[in-house]
Amino acid sequence: MCGIVGYIGYRKAAPTILNCLKALEYRGYDSAGIATASNGSLHVKRDVGKIAEVHEKHNLRDLGGSIGIGHTRWATHGVPSMANAHPLVDCTGKLAIVHNGVIENYSEIKEWLSKKGHKFKSDTDTEVAAHLIEENLKRGLNLEKAVGSAVARFKGNYAFAVLRLGEKKLVLARDGSPLVVGFGKNEMFAASDVPALLKYTRQFAFMEDGDVAVITRKGAQFIHKGRRVKRRKTNVNWSADMAQKEGWPHFTIKEINEQVVSIPAALRVGVKRGAELVRKAKRIHIIGCGTSYHASLIFKQLLANHAGLECDAWVASEYKEGAVIKPGTLVIAVSQSGETLDTALAVKHAKAKRAKVLAITNVVGSSLARGANANIYINAGPEVSVVATKTFTAQVAVLTSLALAVAGKKPKKGRFAKKIKQVLKLGRQIKKIAKKLRTTNDYFFIGRGLMAPVSMEGALKLKEIAYVHAEAYPAGELKHGPLSLIADGIPIIALAPTGANEPKMLGNIKECKARGGRIMAVSNSLRIIREADWGVNMPKACDELTPLLYIIPLQLLAYYACLERKLDPDKPRNLAKSVTVE
Ligand code: M6R
Repeated sequence: MCGIVGYIGYRKAAPTILNCLKALEYRGYDSAGIATASNGSLHVKRDVGKIAEVHEKHNLRDLGGSIGIGHTRWATHGVPSMANAHPLVDCTGKLAIVHNGVIENYSEIKEWLSKKGHKFKSDTDTEVAAHLIEENLKRGLNLEKAVGSAVARFKGNYAFAVLRLGEKKLVLARDGSPLVVGFGKNEMFAASDVPALLKYTRQFAFMEDGDVAVITRKGAQFIHKGRRVKRRKTNVNWSADMAQKEGWPHFTIKEINEQVVSIPAALRVGVKRGAELVRKAKRIHIIGCGTSYHASLIFKQLLANHAGLECDAWVASEYKEGAVIKPGTLVIAVSQSGETLDTALAVKHAKAKRAKVLAITNVVGSSLARGANANIYINAGPEVSVVATKTFTAQVAVLTSLALAVAGKKPKKGRFAKKIKQVLKLGRQIKKIAKKLRTTNDYFFIGRGLMAPVSMEGALKLKEIAYVHAEAYPAGELKHGPLSLIADGIPIIALAPTGANEPKMLGNIKECKARGGRIMAVSNSLRIIREADWGVNMPKACDELTPLLYIIPLQLLAYYACLERKLDPDKPRNLAKSVTVE
């Protein structure tokens, strides 16, 4: 999704903004640009491509002034092009704007503005904001009022940063898309999220939906529905180094390896208050998108098996379509970013029906965390790679503790970090498997019980970064249809730890082999490993912790499959780290 940066202070704005934009690259984008103001002129440079490419072509550092805004654009309205790249300017050439989100009613506003003589130079929805603010300024409003009055006309979701020549301030606005204000000494920052600014500050205020903010060198003022309001400052204990590669070739593999620390840390997170809420609830719903949904499915099973409680798991974007929400319903909203719009809208819907919300997020002060009745932070540290790896296992760890705590139990951790290390060492073997499979473009993942959602997560990882077709099925479902697709050479990744499901998994593996399938078995059972073309030998763990170990070989497989195809695992095409559109 688009990334926004704003700076005002004593430094040269352009290089500062450039550094912050680089830290936002993981959000995914197709064009980039910066606008600054100095010596009575507005300077704008922008183009299609990665920041390094745009910089190489235009020298983005070479823009004067100590006030400016920057942007990485993820195209929605209008193709990736120089004309559609942000910052966009108004007719006077004195006002520049960057935007994240979608203005749904932009065409009618554009028509109205065109009739008033405004000339549009892009196909974006964003440009209407620049011209509408210009129109409001003509009416004599100051910049914050002009922005406030413009955004009041918009339907959809947005975060804006606005720069106007001659003003010693930046104006920000947010509704539905994230925007944080960073505090420095004689300098202030704005960005779409915290990691972008960690090099400069650890003190943040999170804007609320409907807020307009004015930042000057000296501080910030927040306005909500025309009134001055206070927004609490939060200190974030992440460091800029945590969001660096630190010698690893990619963030993806760095973060996969960090699980040796992040999983045990997440297993130590306190869940007492959350467990009380679950116990008291009349109905329990758990919602999330993508990876967070897969973590939710694991919770659903653990809660049933350990606490005997029923829980509905929903893909957040489908929640409104059929969930029965009554007072007394507890919605557990799972989102590593805490900014996913689909999840936010599902929560809004549930709250309107008087449900309580327990948020499970990684980002302190994120929108989801602020709007919830209670929070559990998963403590995974910043995750830069677009694909979720360590945040998935941290979510699963916290949800496992939560499900067990409801029943007054704790996970049997043993020497779990040692087991994680052992699994990470399988990387070399998995790299070889990925090499053998480098021309294969269809994969099946199968598992039963807790391994079914883990299979789904493994298939998602492979799709996301290796761009190959991968399907996941509860192993028992194979015979109800997909078995017809198993033919010579098709790889089947079978997750089969020892336990009650082992004999059935053995049967499923044999079924696939009989039809020519090649089996990569992830298991701690010799019987299973012997059946496999590639046996990935796992350490034994107690049942409830197996998902935390069994996902790691699948993350590694996706990573090495991606490298085999000469792709960039950190920035998969078309995907974004926090998805702030519906
Ligand atoms: O920030 P969230 O956990 O709410 O994000 C939800 C999904 O967008 C996310 O898990 C997505 O599926 C990732 N690309 C997974 O790698």
